[in-house]
Amino acid sequence: MTADNKHDIRDASLADAGLGRIEWAYREMPVLRELGQRLAKQRPLDGIRISACLHITTETANLARTLKTAGADLVLCASNPLSTQDDVAAALVTRFGIPVFAIRGESTDVYYRHINSALDHQPVITMDDGADLVSEIHKTRSTLIDNMLGGTEETTTGVIRLRAMANQGALRFPVIAVNDAMTKHLFDNRYGTGQSTLDGIIRATNILLAGKNFTVVGYGWCGRGIAMRAKGHGAKVIVTEVDPLRSLEAAMDGYRVMPLMEAARQSDFIITATGDKHVVDKEHMEAMKDGCVLANSGHFNVEINIPALEAMAVDKQRPRASVDEYILEDGRCIRLLAEGRLVNLAAAEGHPSAVMDMSFANQVLSAVYLAEQQHRLDHTVHKVPAEIDQQVASMKLAAMNIHIDRLTDAQQRYLGSWQEGTE
Ligand SMILES: NC(=O)c1ccc[n+]([C@@H]2O[C@H](COP(=O)([O-])OP(=O)(O)OC[C@H]3O[C@@H](n4cnc5c(N)ncnc54)[C@H](O)[C@@H]3O)[C@@H](O)[C@H]2O)c1
Repeated sequence: MTADNKHDIRDASLADAGLGRIEWAYREMPVLRELGQRLAKQRPLDGIRISACLHITTETANLARTLKTAGADLVLCASNPLSTQDDVAAALVTRFGIPVFAIRGESTDVYYRHINSALDHQPVITMDDGADLVSEIHKTRSTLIDNMLGGTEETTTGVIRLRAMANQGALRFPVIAVNDAMTKHLFDNRYGTGQSTLDGIIRATNILLAGKNFTVVGYGWCGRGIAMRAKGHGAKVIVTEVDPLRSLEAAMDGYRVMPLMEAARQSDFIITATGDKHVVDKEHMEAMKDGCVLANSGHFNVEINIPALEAMAVDKQRPRASVDEYILEDGRCIRLLAEGRLVNLAAAEGHPSAVMDMSFANQVLSAVYLAEQQHRLDHTVHKVPAEIDQQVASMKLAAMNIHIDRLTDAQQRYLGSWQEGTE
């Protein structure tokens, strides 16, 4: 381990490997590259202290270098104990001079110690993926609050937690819901989680998906992406939901929709993506087929009731990295991937860089927005300004060399009027 009060990482000698992978990802992140070039001249974040609690991946490294180029004084910690790429952490510390507090596989105690090390930086802006920094500041580090310009939040679960805080009047600085930008969740949650979740399941198990019953629990942005990609692999996809509209959408998208209890009896794979707790519970496990593979792509490791599974098991084996086989009293086995943590990050590398390009462009521009607003925003959860969303979409299209039509003046007038009807 390489630790001092300025960083805590696994092994600084991994930096070369990390740097190579960071540069590889950067090639797929043209929007961040262009923002980096623009902001290097303007330096809108000059001297602004940012603490970021994000998955320590190659894409996050490229976000961090962009923020630094824009002038930010930045430290990073992990937003999940199993998602840290130790070579990336090493490169960030030794090649980019950005302090990191994150070690893959860290215990829950070390996870929170690292969060507090990041907060020792006295941030005026926080960047969260799951709201742990904001939550910790409000619970134990309230002396930081007066100086806070605000925070940004990357994921659905974090936004839900923050809205709950705001609704109870507990949130004491503004937060921008980056997750809710169109250029974030339409692409990152759907195509990013879709591809990388399948990648994680395949890397962990190498089991053929074609012809298998593959259940997706939750048909939100992530669930839609996972279902779409599983179907592409030839799996027979089942969707379970609690929301009537989303259930209907899943049915019309061509999936079988049924209660999880019914799905559990026939599924070869069950993947959760709900942001909810214990959606796969003891009674479902009691009904599962022998060999059923369970995985989670939702933010926290509470979607599958793992304590119940532990209590039901008479034996537990680890036949492959990222696979735990729980043997039940009747001889059936249930296979849990990545200890129920985000399977796409714990068993694969997380989202492809090309989608994180847009998510993290929103992060950079939202941080600049918070800096410009200088304490003027209300202490609630704010949308990413529509101009930022439009800007990110336009930059991405330009980078993809895709050109689109423009409204004519007459069309603009027509769309803004009510007098004209059937001709
Ligand atoms: N793995 C990743 O890299 C990644 C990326 C983005 C988001 N996330 C996380 O994934 C989760 C889902 O995000 P999203 O953007 O799809 O959210 P969403 O709100 O769009 O969708 C969640 C869906 O789950 C459904 N649901 C809730 N409880 C359920 C239950 N008991 N049974 C069945 N369905 C249930 C809801 O009705 C909703 O349709 C969140 O925790 C989010 O933070 C993970």
